[in-house]
Amino acid sequence: MVGSISFKLPSEITVNEMMDNKVQNIFNNYLYKESLFKNREVLSTNFLPNTIVHRDTEIEIISSILAPILKGYKPSNVFIYGGIGCGKTVTIKYILEQLSKISNNTYKTIYINCKMKKVSDTEYRILSQILKEFDVLVPETGIATNVLYKKFFEEASKQNIILVFDEIDCLVNKIGDEFLYNISRSDSNISVVGITNNIYFAEKIDPRVRSSLAEEEIIFKPYNAEQLKDIISLRISDAFYENTIDDSVLNKCAALAAQEHGDARRALDLIRVAAEISERSGQTTITEIQLDVAKERINTDKLTEIVRSQPRHSQIVLESMMSLRKTSKGQWIDSRILTSDIYKSYNKLCENNGLNPLTQRRVCDLVNEYETLGIINTKISSRGRYGKLREVVFAVNEEMIAKIEGILLKINSY
Ligand SMILES: Nc1ncnc2c1ncn2[C@@H]1O[C@H](COP(=O)(O)OP(=O)(O)OP(=O)(O)O)[C@@H](O)[C@H]1O
Ligand SMILES: [Mg+2]
Repeated sequence: MVGSISFKLPSEITVNEMMDNKVQNIFNNYLYKESLFKNREVLSTNFLPNTIVHRDTEIEIISSILAPILKGYKPSNVFIYGGIGCGKTVTIKYILEQLSKISNNTYKTIYINCKMKKVSDTEYRILSQILKEFDVLVPETGIATNVLYKKFFEEASKQNIILVFDEIDCLVNKIGDEFLYNISRSDSNISVVGITNNIYFAEKIDPRVRSSLAEEEIIFKPYNAEQLKDIISLRISDAFYENTIDDSVLNKCAALAAQEHGDARRALDLIRVAAEISERSGQTTITEIQLDVAKERINTDKLTEIVRSQPRHSQIVLESMMSLRKTSKGQWIDSRILTSDIYKSYNKLCENNGLNPLTQRRVCDLVNEYETLGIINTKISSRGRYGKLREVVFAVNEEMIAKIEGILLKINSY
């Protein structure tokens, strides 16, 4: 008897099996298709490049300020300002790495990114985070903060310390400036390097803390298109196989990122997303068309994600700020918005939505969070005998504001 072969008629293939086949095909195509990526890690957010270009002066100045630690002296505190993606983090990490190469155990460097979740949202957490660097493990709750301070200063007294607070504005937005005051006032041997992209940050901290922390100030200027082109060129030679991208696409990418405040991160994101789009459609080169699609996708994705993921009250706060930018005729006006007006408008919107409004203080916190997210900037201004007022300005351009409005409209219509 001939061995029986079992096969299925098309009508017997289940929906599940069809889906299985489809997914298997995607995976097989991915596995065996030629990819344009040689090493995709190189374009990821956390990748630290070996070479930093166009920041020689800044590297030299900061290194000279910190160098005294090598001979047992306390370096001056430093403040580093500069727009988004202009190389502040990569520069300081590079300097710390170089410093660690000549470490003689008489000093310690600590880098803390205050924007990371659960790192700097309370005084307790930031102190625990720092103590962790000294191998002192603190339980999540239960110890008085003055005990943590005591332990920290005790550890700090053993050696000189460079303590870098990257995105320091997030720390102050969350826990105020008292923590920095306590550190800068202490006669310990801690040198603080504060980094921020918020130009209004200095106005928010106590003038005594400000003058003590900003003994030295360094400003990172935005990159121009040519510099951005050099930054991406360096990276793509490691990321892609040869001839994946031509010069005209590189120029366009650099020009687009130069318009976005000279942001190198934006330039690298554009290339990475464009490459992924190209790869998914089975191509092995990146063209201007994919770059345009990448630009749209990045703008929309980022904003949509931010706005959608906010709690309802936070979205209403954003809506209040948006509505205050309009005149009665519906024309955009580029005025500053007062936080007191935001609260009034927020209350009205809560009433319209049948929601109980939060306290003014809580709404202020929500406004601060939008500042942390880079959507607005706030500024304290003096109004003579009327005292001080806190004003809000949008930090994103008109195109983005129109997009936020569209996203909020969509959310409201659900
Ligand atoms: N001069 C440079 N040479 C090489 N790569 C750079 C340079 N400047 C920035 N980059 C790269 O661009 C991206 C953004 O840089 P970085 O994170 O240092 O910016 P930033 O100023 O800290 O921005 P933010 O204020 O948003 O934190 C990183 O991937 C970084 O490696
Ligand atoms: Mg940074």
